[in-house]
Amino acid sequence: MKALVLSGGAGTRLRPITHTSAKQLVPVANKPVLFYGLEAIAEAGITEVGIVVGDTADEIREAVGDGSRFGVEITYIAQHAPLGLAHAVLISREFLGEDDFVMYLGDNFIVGGITGLVDGFRASRPAAQILLTQVPNPTAFGVAELDDSGRVVALEEKPKVPKSDLALVGVYLFTAAVHEAVRAIEPSWRGELEITHAIQWLMDKNHDVSSTTISGYWKDTGNVTDMLEVNRAVLESIEPCTQGSVDEASEIIGRVRVEEGAQVVRSRIVGPAIIGAGSVISDAYVGPYTSVSEGCRIEDSEIEYSIVLRDSSITGVRRVEASLIGRGVEVTPAPRHPAAHRLVLGDHSKVQISS
Ligand code: DAU
Repeated sequence: MKALVLSGGAGTRLRPITHTSAKQLVPVANKPVLFYGLEAIAEAGITEVGIVVGDTADEIREAVGDGSRFGVEITYIAQHAPLGLAHAVLISREFLGEDDFVMYLGDNFIVGGITGLVDGFRASRPAAQILLTQVPNPTAFGVAELDDSGRVVALEEKPKVPKSDLALVGVYLFTAAVHEAVRAIEPSWRGELEITHAIQWLMDKNHDVSSTTISGYWKDTGNVTDMLEVNRAVLESIEPCTQGSVDEASEIIGRVRVEEGAQVVRSRIVGPAIIGAGSVISDAYVGPYTSVSEGCRIEDSEIEYSIVLRDSSITGVRRVEASLIGRGVEVTPAPRHPAAHRLVLGDHSKVQISS
C-alpha cells in the first residue's frame, strides 16, 4: 500500500498567514499540519509516499526532505497547475502502479491518525473508502448523501443546497479501480477534475464504495478561531520537557515544552504551552494554550491562548489573548504622546484594539 499526499495548489490564496507560504505548512503546536499527516501515514505502516507539489514545491521539499525523519521514502510529483484532486491521481499513475493507496490532503488534520482506517481497508478492500464528518458549513466541502441504511448514494462537490451536513474529509482509500474513473470524468464547473466525480463514477458503475464517519477533524480554512482551537487540542497532549534553559526566578506549571536553545528568564509559564527553539521569554507570562514558534522574543508582556509564528517579538505589551501573530512581526506599545495606535498591517489582517 502506498500514500499520495496532495500539497500542490496555487500559492496565491490571500489570507493571513498563508498568503506568503504553502497552506500545508501552517503550524499546529509548532509543527506544520502536513507533518501530522506524514506521521499518521508512517504510523499506519506505509513507507512509499508520493507528494504532489505545485507552485510552492521548493518550500515543501525544504520542509519535508527525503522523508527519512518520518521513516518514509518520498517521491515528489510535480503538478504544473492545480487542476483538481482527481488530476493529481491521474498524473501519479506511474508512482502508484497497481497498488492500493491512501490519498491524504496535505492541509487536513485528523485527530487520532489513520491506522485503524487503513487496517480496515486492507481487510475489506472496497474500490473506494471515504471519510465523512459533520460540519457547520457543508457548502465549503464535498457533501455525501446517505440512504436510510447509512450507505452513500451520491456525492456533490461544494453544493449550493447541501443534502446533508456530512462533509468529505480529505483522506480517501482506493484500489487501482480509481484510475479508470479519473480517466473517465470531465472537468467540473470550476475547471477541476473532481475526486468526488471519480468516486460517483465508481458508484454508478456498481463498484463498492464504503464510508466511515469520524469526529476530530480540521482543515486549514484561514479561520483563526478554528486554528486556535486545533492548536489547543494538540497542546493538550504534548509531552512536557525542557531542552532549553529556565532560570531560578522562573516558574513552569503544567505541560510545557521548552525547546532547544530557548531561554526562560524571570517568567511564569502555565501550560499546556510550547516555547520554540531559540526563543527568549523574559519578565513575561505565557498562559495556557500558547504556541510560540522558534526565534521569538516575548519580553515584559503577557500572552495566552495564542499562536506566535517564528521570529516575532512582543515587548512591553500588557495582555495578548486569542491572537494569531504571523512571522517576523513586532508588537510594541505606542509612545504615550500622542495617544494613538500606530499600525503597519498586512493585507487581510484583523486587529482588535482596546482603547
Ligand atoms: O478538505 C476536504 C475537501 O477537500 C473535500 O471536502 C472536498 O470534497 C475536496 O474537493 C477538497 O476541497 P477543496 O476545494 O477545499 O480542496 P483544496 O483546493 O483546498 O485542495 C486540498 C489539498 O489538495 C490542498 O492541500 C492542495 C492540494 N491540491 C489541490 C488541488 C485542487 C493539489 O495538490 N492539487 C490540486 O490540483
